[in-house]
Amino acid sequence: MKKWYAVIGDPISHSKSPAMHEAWFAENDIDAAYIPIHVPSGTVAGAVDALRRLGASGWNVTIPHKQAIIPYLDEVDPLAAAMQAVNTVKVLPDGRLLGMNTDGPGFVRSLEERIGSFRKKERVLVIGAGGAANGIALAMNQAGYGKISVCNRTVQKAEALCGRIGGEALSLEDAAEKLDEFGVIIQTTPVGMSTATGGLPIAIERLDPGAVVADIVYSPLHTDFLKAAMKNGNEIVDGLGMFIWQGALAFHEWTGRMPDTLGTRQRLIAEME
Ligand code: ATR
Repeated sequence: MKKWYAVIGDPISHSKSPAMHEAWFAENDIDAAYIPIHVPSGTVAGAVDALRRLGASGWNVTIPHKQAIIPYLDEVDPLAAAMQAVNTVKVLPDGRLLGMNTDGPGFVRSLEERIGSFRKKERVLVIGAGGAANGIALAMNQAGYGKISVCNRTVQKAEALCGRIGGEALSLEDAAEKLDEFGVIIQTTPVGMSTATGGLPIAIERLDPGAVVADIVYSPLHTDFLKAAMKNGNEIVDGLGMFIWQGALAFHEWTGRMPDTLGTRQRLIAEME
């Protein structure tokens, strides 16, 4: 029987995941399909039951179900459990459902694809303390980045995250004040998304031109924050790599194959232009 995979979420029609995974199946000579399924908030239990009974081999999970799906899975791996968020479900050979999270590790792979892994000793600043920031900070911590600070508009949320990784919590103002101390800066808030307001999440007057500046927003590809960093001479990492790599790591879990991430990047950028 032909294998099939899916992504569940709400909204889902805009998702770039189906086309990306179907291209990877074709490139790897795997006879499989990947379909978007609109699953409204509050209906994830029924959706998991249907996916299980209809024989899906795995699926991705996006907003608003990443946390809500957990009680309906048979097992959750340690990173997803620590994050309390699942973005990838793998159906094990015995039919049990394993929840995983490739978002944070996907960010680390996209960062290291661009800058190598030699900056682990530098101080890292994560801007934001929401779901995405949690995943990235935990994955960076697990990957060996030891000195992580988190700044957030609501400092209590930065403190809660730092309590889990042993980092330093800062207000946005305090982080801006000592921005020159950081060698890797990761922007995780929606500030700069085409659907939100533009502008910068923190002032960057003190940004060290030698620092690497990453944003997880990929639409637009270059947020005002990345544009300002480029103007300052900084090396930048846009958010498209994280999107591609979270998918690539899920694809690898499902098929054992690693897709061509750089070719995918070129294709997606051509489509965005
Ligand atoms: P996600 O899962 O994408 O991380 P989230 O969990 O809603 O989304 O988190 C959004 C993050 O962006 C939070 O850190 C939020 O700050 P608060 O905790 O103070 O709400 C941050 N954020 C959202 N809008 C922002 C803005 N206009 N300026 C600064 N930070 C903002």
